[in-house]
Amino acid sequence: MFKIGPHEFKSGIFLAPMSGITDKPFRLICQKYGAELAPMEMVIGDAKLWQSKKTLSRLNFDQQNNNIKVIQLVGHDEHLMSEAAYQAQEMGANIIDINLGCPAKKVCGNYAGSALLAFPAKIKKIFEAIQNKISIPLTVKIRTGSTREDNTALDVLKIAEDFGLSAMTIHGRSRECKFKGSAEYHTIRKVKQVARIPIIANGDIDSQEKARKVKEFTGADGIMIGRAALGNPWIFSEITCNETKVDKNSNAIYANIRSHIKGIYALYGKDRGVKISRKHLCWYIDNGYLSAQKKPILLSTECYKRQLELISC
Ligand SMILES: Cc1cc2nc3c(=O)[nH]c(=O)nc-3n(C[C@H](O)[C@H](O)[C@H](O)COP(=O)(O)O)c2cc1C
Repeated sequence: MFKIGPHEFKSGIFLAPMSGITDKPFRLICQKYGAELAPMEMVIGDAKLWQSKKTLSRLNFDQQNNNIKVIQLVGHDEHLMSEAAYQAQEMGANIIDINLGCPAKKVCGNYAGSALLAFPAKIKKIFEAIQNKISIPLTVKIRTGSTREDNTALDVLKIAEDFGLSAMTIHGRSRECKFKGSAEYHTIRKVKQVARIPIIANGDIDSQEKARKVKEFTGADGIMIGRAALGNPWIFSEITCNETKVDKNSNAIYANIRSHIKGIYALYGKDRGVKISRKHLCWYIDNGYLSAQKKPILLSTECYKRQLELISC
């Protein structure tokens, strides 16, 4: 059990934020199956740019339930980011998370995301400016460093603690690694050994066994799961409750997938929703929850009714 500000976590199994994926419907199904925290997709740390269709759908909260709402900001200008954090708090966010992990060219080219790991003085300014503006917990998600060799994670921990941040998530890869190779957990373990705030371990956790090993090895307070939840939101219940494999033919699975897909139609509208649903349906097929024979028709139909009908045995 650990806390992030006033929020208490029992299992500490979180969904990882993923751009283009962890929208409201996906967060809801992951939360239903045991993800204790499900951050939103990153949004730009400049509230003036939040009126685009894309950002508005990203900022669509799960207002109807009591789930903890985490808005993740990416950017480099401390003035704009602190104002964005304040606006996010006003909109109802319970936690603000800063993205210091994104390796994408578009983001790093703007000295944001994991590019900031090489600029500790800038990180200090961002943390300080935001902490002066908000009263809800501030957390940060990082990579191990710019390269495999450096010790940035420990430096960022020190800064985070100095500025009163409430938790730190570490993806066990460097900026340079992007998504290549395997995640390493030695850095996470080193950080956890000296940390005074909760540490969440992330990277390549895809089973109950792996979750147990990573937690044991690193001593991390919690773990965060990203890609292994795609088409498999049941992974959270498998990890948290020691459940045996979910029955892949059960009608309950189809009902849950249909409810996920209906949530996508509700958020994006039926026309866009049919297209956005396709990647999730592919992931459900890849995991064996939907028949592979239906793939061509599921991915080509433009009709939402047909798409829903096909989510059956
Ligand atoms: C498609 C995709 C989008 C991502 N978007 C974000 C993001 O918006 N914010 C963030 O902090 N990390 C993002 N990540 C990184 C994940 O949160 C996570 O750190 C990474 O995937 C490693 O965890 P995993 O091995 O469990 O997937 C993204 C990853 C993927 C694959």
